Amino acid sequence: MSHAFDLIVHDADIATATDRYRADIGVKDGVITAIARALSPNDLAPGGQRIDAQGRLVTPGGVDSHCHISQPMSDGSVCADDFASGSRSAAAGGTTTFVPFALQQRGQTLREALAAYHRSASGQSVIDYAFHLIVSDPTDDVLADEFDWLVTQGVTSIKIYLTYDDLKLSDRQILRVLAAAKRSGIMTMVHAENFDCIEWLTEQLLAAGITEPMGHAMSRPAAVEREATHRAISLAEIMRVPILLVHVSAADAIEQIRWAHGRGLRIYGETCPQYLFLTEDDLALDAGGARCICSPPPRDRANQQKVWDGLANGAFEVFSSDHAPFRSGTDGKAVAGPHAAFNQVPNGIPGLETRLALLMSEGVNAGRIDIHQFVALTSTQAAKLYGLHPRKGTLAVGSDADMVIWHDAVDFTLTQAMLHHAVDYTPYEGMRLTAWPALTLARGEVVWQGEPGRGQVSERVGRGEFVPAKVSPMAQVPHRPGASHHWLPKT
Ligand code: URP
Ligand code: ZN
Ligand code: ZN
Repeated sequence: MSHAFDLIVHDADIATATDRYRADIGVKDGVITAIARALSPNDLAPGGQRIDAQGRLVTPGGVDSHCHISQPMSDGSVCADDFASGSRSAAAGGTTTFVPFALQQRGQTLREALAAYHRSASGQSVIDYAFHLIVSDPTDDVLADEFDWLVTQGVTSIKIYLTYDDLKLSDRQILRVLAAAKRSGIMTMVHAENFDCIEWLTEQLLAAGITEPMGHAMSRPAAVEREATHRAISLAEIMRVPILLVHVSAADAIEQIRWAHGRGLRIYGETCPQYLFLTEDDLALDAGGARCICSPPPRDRANQQKVWDGLANGAFEVFSSDHAPFRSGTDGKAVAGPHAAFNQVPNGIPGLETRLALLMSEGVNAGRIDIHQFVALTSTQAAKLYGLHPRKGTLAVGSDADMVIWHDAVDFTLTQAMLHHAVDYTPYEGMRLTAWPALTLARGEVVWQGEPGRGQVSERVGRGEFVPAKVSPMAQVPHRPGASHHWLPKT
């Protein structure tokens, strides 16, 4: 037989979203070309590499479908991670594809927004990437022409906001966006919080002299998220189109998702590490408060449990980081001053590098979810939802050779010093973890190798490629035999 493989990963304990078995993985030109019981080393091409997994767990590389990289901010703060630092940090944590947001600022076309974002990513990333587009200005031209154009550019998902002054859409605008998304086959992600409630509660809190970070949680109680979640679901129901609710934080919002499922609606849900591992107590001043300000805010222990339940029982499809990286200083969290009121602190926390290890440690190793749920939540479902599957999100013949070989047994305390992001803190400082990638392979190339706090992450920025997304079947309404024809409203 001719020399077939550039790489053989030998003796892998392979876990996918559905299967678990022991095999060798053969890779050619960055793609998996064979998975078999025993591949012969003689089948390696000259100069080919053999990596002995030694029976260790091997999972598909993580797909992080919610992160903010080099995103322009309207308050003068700076997104700390660019594509170089963000992708290196992701690789060290086992993520091999990420999907950040290209932001349409008001007055911009989608063409301008996408071109600007390609410029910041091009030649900078160590891992492969796709884009979602944040739509903040759905003009007639955007809806009539640019959604279809986006799809031709390999961007098949958008995010819309029900809050933030510079991003929020009215219900009427949302209906029009959903109609256009449906026509183009685009998946719509929704940030569901009620802007008017937050604005009014914020005014009351500030008037009462409550300015510290805890006020952020008080201004965004679970009902604010619940109402907006219900409204988004209702608008999607009216338009008969699937949507995905991002960064779901609380039992109330999960109940709305379940309610929608009960009505036969295709409503998807995403949650993030901060809703499993942080509570509103982390917003206390002596806990470094502002550093843990994110939206929706972390809740309480009872809500944490409901989020764990949702991961275990299928309420959520995706577990993403919502990596929104701001340093502690005046270019980030303290942009309006060290003691600025909570509503002047940029929202978001870092989490690209720690996402997989946190869920493997506290989810799989602690017995809350199984390994197949882990793979589905961190990789496969995101790839499917956003049109990257089967190239990404699984280990199969024909898929990119993106994978993580996990350490057999690690037990360590997480510290900021171990991480590769450009932020100066981790909200998970001091957590005890029992999992970390020993090796991350991206299209067959080693991009991370080492132990927690001691390892090598690839410097080959620019090796990562833009992966054009396809229209996802999950963005379509399922056919219901016998259902009456539903007319498609014009945008
Ligand atoms: O607080 C958060 N989540 N900041 C990032 C922006 C967003 O809404 O996802
Ligand atoms: Zn959001
Ligand atoms: Zn986000």
